Amino acid sequence: MDRLLAVTGGASGIGLGIVEAARGEGWQVAAADRIPVEGVATLDVTDAAAVASWIGGLEGLRGVVCSAGISAATPILDTDPEIFRRILDVNLTGSFLVAQAAAKAMVAGGKGGSIVFVASVSGLRGIQDRVAYGASKAAVINMAQVLAIDLAKYGIRANAICPAPIETPLVTRLHDAETRAQWISRIPAARYGRVEEVAQAALFLLDDARSSYITGHALPVDGGYAGAGVMA
Ligand SMILES: NC(=O)c1ccc[n+]([C@@H]2O[C@H](COP(=O)([O-])OP(=O)(O)OC[C@H]3O[C@@H](n4cnc5c(N)ncnc54)[C@H](O)[C@@H]3O)[C@@H](O)[C@H]2O)c1
Repeated sequence: MDRLLAVTGGASGIGLGIVEAARGEGWQVAAADRIPVEGVATLDVTDAAAVASWIGGLEGLRGVVCSAGISAATPILDTDPEIFRRILDVNLTGSFLVAQAAAKAMVAGGKGGSIVFVASVSGLRGIQDRVAYGASKAAVINMAQVLAIDLAKYGIRANAICPAPIETPLVTRLHDAETRAQWISRIPAARYGRVEEVAQAALFLLDDARSSYITGHALPVDGGYAGAGVMA
Protein backbone atom coordinates (compact mmCIF):
# COMPACT_ATOMS: atom_id res chain seq x y z
CA MET A 1 0.00 0.00 0.00
CA ASP A 2 1.45 3.39 -0.95
CA ARG A 3 -0.35 5.54 1.61
CA LEU A 4 1.94 7.69 3.73
CA LEU A 5 0.62 9.43 6.83
CA ALA A 6 2.39 12.11 8.90
CA VAL A 7 1.44 12.51 12.58
CA THR A 8 2.63 15.28 14.90
CA GLY A 9 2.62 14.73 18.64
CA GLY A 10 3.24 11.11 17.66
CA ALA A 11 5.31 10.20 20.73
CA SER A 12 2.47 10.28 23.26
CA GLY A 13 -1.21 10.00 23.95
CA ILE A 14 -3.65 10.47 21.09
CA GLY A 15 -0.93 10.99 18.47
CA LEU A 16 0.82 7.78 19.46
CA GLY A 17 -2.50 5.91 19.41
CA ILE A 18 -3.16 7.17 15.88
CA VAL A 19 0.34 6.12 14.75
CA GLU A 20 -0.22 2.59 16.05
CA ALA A 21 -3.78 2.24 14.70
CA ALA A 22 -2.79 3.59 11.26
CA ARG A 23 0.13 1.15 10.98
CA GLY A 24 -2.36 -1.60 11.84
CA GLU A 25 -4.50 -0.50 8.87
CA GLY A 26 -1.60 -0.59 6.42
CA TRP A 27 -0.58 3.08 6.43
CA GLN A 28 3.10 3.88 6.29
CA VAL A 29 3.51 6.38 9.11
CA ALA A 30 6.04 9.16 9.78
CA ALA A 31 5.70 10.49 13.32
CA ALA A 32 7.21 13.66 14.79
CA ASP A 33 7.30 15.14 18.27
CA ARG A 34 9.11 17.81 20.27
CA ILE A 35 10.41 15.22 22.71
CA PRO A 36 13.11 12.90 21.34
CA VAL A 37 11.85 9.32 21.06
CA GLU A 38 13.33 6.50 18.99
CA GLY A 39 11.59 6.10 15.64
CA VAL A 40 9.99 9.55 15.91
CA ALA A 41 11.44 12.64 14.19
CA THR A 42 12.30 15.40 16.64
CA LEU A 43 10.34 18.47 15.59
CA ASP A 44 8.90 21.61 17.13
CA VAL A 45 5.73 22.37 15.17
CA THR A 46 6.16 26.10 15.78
CA ASP A 47 9.40 26.10 13.76
CA ALA A 48 8.24 26.81 10.19
CA ALA A 49 11.54 25.88 8.54
CA ALA A 50 11.82 22.60 10.46
CA VAL A 51 8.21 21.69 9.62
CA ALA A 52 8.76 22.41 5.91
CA SER A 53 11.95 20.35 5.92
CA TRP A 54 10.31 17.35 7.70
CA ILE A 55 7.22 17.30 5.48
CA GLY A 56 9.30 18.07 2.36
CA GLY A 57 11.29 14.90 2.98
CA LEU A 58 8.20 12.68 2.91
CA GLU A 59 7.40 11.08 -0.47
CA GLY A 60 3.81 10.18 -1.32
CA LEU A 61 2.06 11.96 1.54
CA ARG A 62 -1.71 11.26 1.53
CA GLY A 63 -2.67 12.07 5.11
CA VAL A 64 -1.64 14.25 8.04
CA VAL A 65 -2.82 14.36 11.64
CA CYS A 66 -2.01 17.44 13.71
CA SER A 67 -2.09 16.13 17.28
CA ALA A 68 0.79 18.08 18.86
CA GLY A 69 -0.72 20.28 21.52
CA ILE A 70 -0.37 21.78 24.97
CA SER A 71 -2.84 23.00 27.56
CA ALA A 72 -3.08 24.97 30.77
CA ALA A 73 -5.99 25.56 33.11
CA THR A 74 -6.11 29.08 34.51
CA PRO A 75 -8.91 31.58 35.04
CA ILE A 76 -8.68 34.58 32.72
CA LEU A 77 -7.58 36.89 35.52
CA ASP A 78 -4.52 34.71 36.19
CA THR A 79 -3.62 33.87 32.59
CA ASP A 80 -0.13 35.09 31.77
CA PRO A 81 -0.14 36.61 28.27
CA GLU A 82 3.03 34.65 27.50
CA ILE A 83 1.25 31.37 28.29
CA PHE A 84 -1.68 32.50 26.13
CA ARG A 85 0.69 33.22 23.23
CA ARG A 86 2.53 29.92 23.67
CA ILE A 87 -0.69 27.86 23.61
CA LEU A 88 -1.88 29.66 20.47
CA ASP A 89 1.57 29.23 18.93
CA VAL A 90 1.70 25.45 19.42
CA ASN A 91 -1.96 24.50 19.00
CA LEU A 92 -2.97 26.94 16.27
CA THR A 93 0.11 28.25 14.43
CA GLY A 94 1.81 24.84 14.70
CA SER A 95 -1.26 23.13 13.21
CA PHE A 96 -1.37 25.73 10.44
CA LEU A 97 2.32 25.25 9.57
CA VAL A 98 1.99 21.46 9.43
CA ALA A 99 -1.27 21.55 7.47
CA GLN A 100 0.11 24.09 4.99
CA ALA A 101 3.31 22.11 4.37
CA ALA A 102 1.31 18.88 4.04
CA ALA A 103 -1.18 20.51 1.65
CA LYS A 104 1.69 21.72 -0.56
CA ALA A 105 3.14 18.19 -0.64
CA MET A 106 -0.29 16.69 -1.44
CA VAL A 107 -0.94 19.20 -4.22
CA ALA A 108 2.49 18.40 -5.71
CA GLY A 109 1.75 14.66 -5.42
CA GLY A 110 -1.47 15.13 -7.39
CA LYS A 111 -3.43 12.36 -5.64
CA GLY A 112 -5.28 14.40 -3.03
CA GLY A 113 -5.27 13.65 0.66
CA SER A 114 -6.84 14.17 4.05
CA ILE A 115 -5.91 16.61 6.82
CA VAL A 116 -7.12 15.84 10.34
CA PHE A 117 -6.77 18.30 13.20
CA VAL A 118 -7.08 17.10 16.77
CA ALA A 119 -9.14 19.98 18.19
CA SER A 120 -11.28 19.53 21.33
CA VAL A 121 -14.76 19.96 22.77
CA SER A 122 -13.11 23.04 24.34
CA GLY A 123 -13.31 24.56 20.85
CA LEU A 124 -17.06 23.88 20.66
CA ARG A 125 -18.12 24.90 24.17
CA GLY A 126 -16.88 27.33 26.79
CA ILE A 127 -14.94 25.31 29.34
CA GLN A 128 -13.99 26.98 32.61
CA ASP A 129 -10.34 28.14 32.87
CA ARG A 130 -9.54 27.31 29.24
CA VAL A 131 -9.37 30.80 27.77
CA ALA A 132 -6.23 30.12 25.71
CA TYR A 133 -6.80 26.44 25.02
CA GLY A 134 -10.45 26.95 24.00
CA ALA A 135 -9.58 29.86 21.71
CA SER A 136 -6.83 27.82 20.05
CA LYS A 137 -9.11 24.84 19.43
CA ALA A 138 -12.07 26.92 18.19
CA ALA A 139 -9.69 28.51 15.69
CA VAL A 140 -8.43 25.10 14.56
CA ILE A 141 -12.04 24.00 13.90
CA ASN A 142 -12.56 27.10 11.76
CA MET A 143 -9.26 26.42 9.98
CA ALA A 144 -10.57 22.99 8.95
CA GLN A 145 -13.64 24.69 7.45
CA VAL A 146 -11.51 27.14 5.48
CA LEU A 147 -9.09 24.47 4.25
CA ALA A 148 -12.04 22.35 3.13
CA ILE A 149 -12.93 25.17 0.73
CA ASP A 150 -9.42 26.20 -0.34
CA LEU A 151 -8.20 22.65 -0.97
CA ALA A 152 -11.29 20.90 -2.37
CA LYS A 153 -10.15 21.50 -5.95
CA TYR A 154 -7.03 19.45 -5.25
CA GLY A 155 -8.98 16.52 -3.83
CA ILE A 156 -7.81 17.35 -0.30
CA ARG A 157 -10.26 17.14 2.60
CA ALA A 158 -9.82 18.78 6.02
CA ASN A 159 -11.66 17.90 9.23
CA ALA A 160 -11.31 18.36 12.98
CA ILE A 161 -11.84 15.80 15.71
CA CYS A 162 -13.17 17.18 18.98
CA PRO A 163 -12.45 14.85 21.88
CA ALA A 164 -13.83 15.23 25.40
CA PRO A 165 -11.31 14.13 28.05
CA ILE A 166 -9.32 11.12 26.90
CA GLU A 167 -7.05 9.11 29.20
CA THR A 168 -3.61 10.41 28.15
CA PRO A 169 -0.53 11.82 29.94
CA LEU A 170 -1.87 15.38 29.31
CA VAL A 171 -5.10 14.62 31.15
CA THR A 172 -3.36 12.73 33.95
CA ARG A 173 -1.29 15.88 34.54
CA LEU A 174 -4.23 18.31 34.42
CA HIS A 175 -7.27 16.56 35.93
CA ASP A 176 -7.57 15.95 39.68
CA ALA A 177 -10.36 13.85 41.22
CA GLU A 178 -12.73 16.81 41.47
CA THR A 179 -12.23 17.79 37.83
CA ARG A 180 -12.83 14.20 36.75
CA ALA A 181 -16.08 14.02 38.72
CA GLN A 182 -17.27 17.31 37.17
CA TRP A 183 -16.63 16.07 33.63
CA ILE A 184 -18.15 12.64 34.17
CA SER A 185 -21.35 14.19 35.56
CA ARG A 186 -21.78 15.99 32.21
CA ILE A 187 -20.88 13.16 29.82
CA PRO A 188 -23.82 10.87 28.92
CA ALA A 189 -21.41 7.93 28.54
CA ALA A 190 -20.28 8.71 32.15
CA ARG A 191 -16.60 8.06 31.52
CA TYR A 192 -13.47 9.50 29.89
CA GLY A 193 -12.65 8.30 26.39
CA ARG A 194 -9.86 6.01 25.26
CA VAL A 195 -7.07 6.82 22.84
CA GLU A 196 -8.20 4.00 20.52
CA GLU A 197 -11.64 5.61 20.24
CA VAL A 198 -10.10 8.84 18.94
CA ALA A 199 -7.75 6.88 16.68
CA GLN A 200 -10.68 5.12 15.00
CA ALA A 201 -12.31 8.48 14.25
CA ALA A 202 -9.03 9.72 12.74
CA LEU A 203 -8.71 6.60 10.56
CA PHE A 204 -12.26 7.12 9.33
CA LEU A 205 -11.56 10.73 8.33
CA LEU A 206 -8.22 9.82 6.73
CA ASP A 207 -9.65 7.08 4.54
CA ASP A 208 -11.21 8.21 1.23
CA ALA A 209 -13.02 4.91 0.95
CA ARG A 210 -14.99 5.72 4.11
CA SER A 211 -15.27 9.52 4.28
CA SER A 212 -14.77 10.90 0.75
CA TYR A 213 -17.76 13.29 1.05
CA ILE A 214 -16.90 14.56 4.54
CA THR A 215 -14.87 17.76 4.70
CA GLY A 216 -14.96 20.91 6.81
CA HIS A 217 -16.53 18.89 9.61
CA ALA A 218 -15.96 18.98 13.37
CA LEU A 219 -16.51 15.49 14.77
CA PRO A 220 -17.01 15.25 18.53
CA VAL A 221 -15.59 12.05 20.04
CA ASP A 222 -17.02 12.80 23.41
CA GLY A 223 -19.45 10.23 24.83
CA GLY A 224 -22.29 12.62 23.98
CA TYR A 225 -20.94 15.64 25.87
CA ALA A 226 -21.33 18.32 23.15
CA GLY A 227 -24.92 17.37 22.38
CA ALA A 228 -26.12 16.96 25.96
CA GLY A 229 -28.58 19.31 27.62
CA VAL A 230 -30.10 18.83 31.06
CA MET A 231 -28.89 15.62 32.70
CA ALA A 232 -30.33 14.04 35.82
N1 LIG B 1 -6.34 14.07 26.17
C1 LIG B 1 -7.45 14.76 26.06
O1 LIG B 1 -8.34 14.67 26.89
C2 LIG B 1 -7.66 15.67 24.90
C3 LIG B 1 -8.95 16.14 24.68
C4 LIG B 1 -9.18 16.97 23.59
C5 LIG B 1 -8.14 17.31 22.77
N2 LIG B 1 -6.89 16.85 23.01
C6 LIG B 1 -5.83 17.23 22.10
O2 LIG B 1 -5.21 16.07 21.62
C7 LIG B 1 -3.86 16.36 21.26
C8 LIG B 1 -2.95 15.35 21.90
O3 LIG B 1 -3.07 15.47 23.30
P1 LIG B 1 -2.72 14.26 24.28
O4 LIG B 1 -3.77 14.21 25.30
O5 LIG B 1 -2.37 13.05 23.50
O6 LIG B 1 -1.44 14.90 25.00
P2 LIG B 1 0.04 14.33 25.23
O7 LIG B 1 0.70 15.36 26.10
O8 LIG B 1 0.01 12.92 25.66
O9 LIG B 1 0.64 14.39 23.75
C9 LIG B 1 0.88 15.60 23.11
C10 LIG B 1 2.20 15.48 22.37
O10 LIG B 1 2.44 16.71 21.68
C11 LIG B 1 3.82 16.98 21.78
N3 LIG B 1 4.09 18.39 21.60
C12 LIG B 1 3.80 19.42 22.45
N4 LIG B 1 4.27 20.57 21.96
C13 LIG B 1 4.86 20.27 20.76
C14 LIG B 1 5.52 21.03 19.79
N5 LIG B 1 5.70 22.35 19.94
N6 LIG B 1 6.00 20.41 18.69
C15 LIG B 1 5.85 19.08 18.52
N7 LIG B 1 5.24 18.29 19.43
C16 LIG B 1 4.74 18.89 20.54
C17 LIG B 1 4.20 16.52 23.20
O11 LIG B 1 5.60 16.32 23.32
C18 LIG B 1 3.39 15.24 23.32
O12 LIG B 1 4.13 14.10 22.93
C19 LIG B 1 -3.60 17.80 21.71
O13 LIG B 1 -3.72 18.65 20.61
C20 LIG B 1 -4.70 18.04 22.72
O14 LIG B 1 -5.02 19.40 22.83
C21 LIG B 1 -6.63 16.03 24.06
